Amino acid sequence: MFDFKYYTPTKVIFGRKTEDQVADLIKEFGGTKVLIHYGGGSVVRSGLLDRVKNTLDQAGIAYVELGGAVPNPHLGLVYEGIELCRKENVDFLLAVGGGSAIDSAKAIGYGLANEGDVWDFYDYKRQVKGAVPLGVILTIAATGSEMSDSSVITKEDGLVKRGYSSDYGRPKFAIMNPELTMTLPDYQTACGCTDIMMHTMERYFTNGGNMEITDALAEGLLRTVKKNAVILRDDPKNYDARAEVMWAGSLAHNGLTGCGNDGGDWMTHKLEHELGGLYDVAHGAGLAAIWGSWARYVYKNCLPRFKKFALNVMDVKDEGTDEEIALKGIEAMEDFYRSIKMPTNLRELGINAADEDLVTMAHKCAVGVGGEMGSAKVLNEQAMLDIFRMSM
Ligand code: NZQ
Ligand code: ZN
Repeated sequence: MFDFKYYTPTKVIFGRKTEDQVADLIKEFGGTKVLIHYGGGSVVRSGLLDRVKNTLDQAGIAYVELGGAVPNPHLGLVYEGIELCRKENVDFLLAVGGGSAIDSAKAIGYGLANEGDVWDFYDYKRQVKGAVPLGVILTIAATGSEMSDSSVITKEDGLVKRGYSSDYGRPKFAIMNPELTMTLPDYQTACGCTDIMMHTMERYFTNGGNMEITDALAEGLLRTVKKNAVILRDDPKNYDARAEVMWAGSLAHNGLTGCGNDGGDWMTHKLEHELGGLYDVAHGAGLAAIWGSWARYVYKNCLPRFKKFALNVMDVKDEGTDEEIALKGIEAMEDFYRSIKMPTNLRELGINAADEDLVTMAHKCAVGVGGEMGSAKVLNEQAMLDIFRMSM
């Protein structure tokens, strides 16, 4: 077991109509002039944006707004947001939407509070020294960005998708009303469930340190999301299932399921970020398309964890060799992905990549992680390429 730091300063307001409390929360955290930042328009269509603006109007809180954060959010809009906020003297950021709007807002907050080019942080050249405070109204359970220290931005030039983590990026508050997720397309709900599970699995498949309590929380979370993803497939308006998945999304990425381990593997994410950068796929679907190939490539180096996962999460029978049990667990996970209409390889994801694209992605991925990375198995550039090839 490793020593650990657990820091989750985000105030969570969970349940029906909780978005009505947004003005009080902004005041509580000292906001006087707000940037409302959102995505491609789902919050306009659902009426949520108007309701939020009415609430701020009634509370006498001034605001400006900036929409347009796309899935795999772009650096260009971050620059635009920084400029707008400087001009308007914004002192509080409110992201209304999913991981893309939240991550874009985090980057705007870094750019406002720090000198120089904000991309430097995503290019691992410097560390942030502060951020403008951020609040969130979440509309999709997926990334956990509402409580996480991470933000993932894509630089249009070269299609470089990079994540940056800092405790300054953790939101001050997160408003989570499961009802707000009921307008999601089924595909996005399934992508979200996949991402949530993967955030816990990245921390679970390690060769470094474990805690019984962390494993129990992780396995419980995985079983809960697996079960409720299927409920939502058949009954998308099920409030309780929406709530289970939404809270799981935050717990999966606020650090709770990593306490005591070595920080996790994270290579499925790193490989997916290349897919997201190059092909602009939905993050959760990209993860599902890569995971099985990654798992088959690494499982022998992390056999006890793959066996435990098979038995405790995927309900595989304790029969046969450890390797057989581990492989049945991987197969069961892929069956689960298929059951919620997630892809299990790149072709099912809709990508017919030329080999040279796979070579490019493996190279960019290796550069992005500083050569090699992984805990279940350390992967170098050749290993990354092997996995991309396996996933075709
Ligand atoms: O843009 P709008 O119009 O809002 O539509 C979005 C988007 O098309 C739609 N949507 C969201 N809530 C909705 C809704 N549609 C109808 N009703 C609602 N209630 O869903 C689509 C996906 O939204 P997006 O915000 O892109 O999804 P997600 O939350 O999955 O975020 C994905 C981004 O986060 C990054 C991913 O790489 C990707 O760039 N990640 C961020 C992490 C973090 N900050 O901690 C960790 C993750 O591992 C991940 O890498
Ligand atoms: Zn993720």
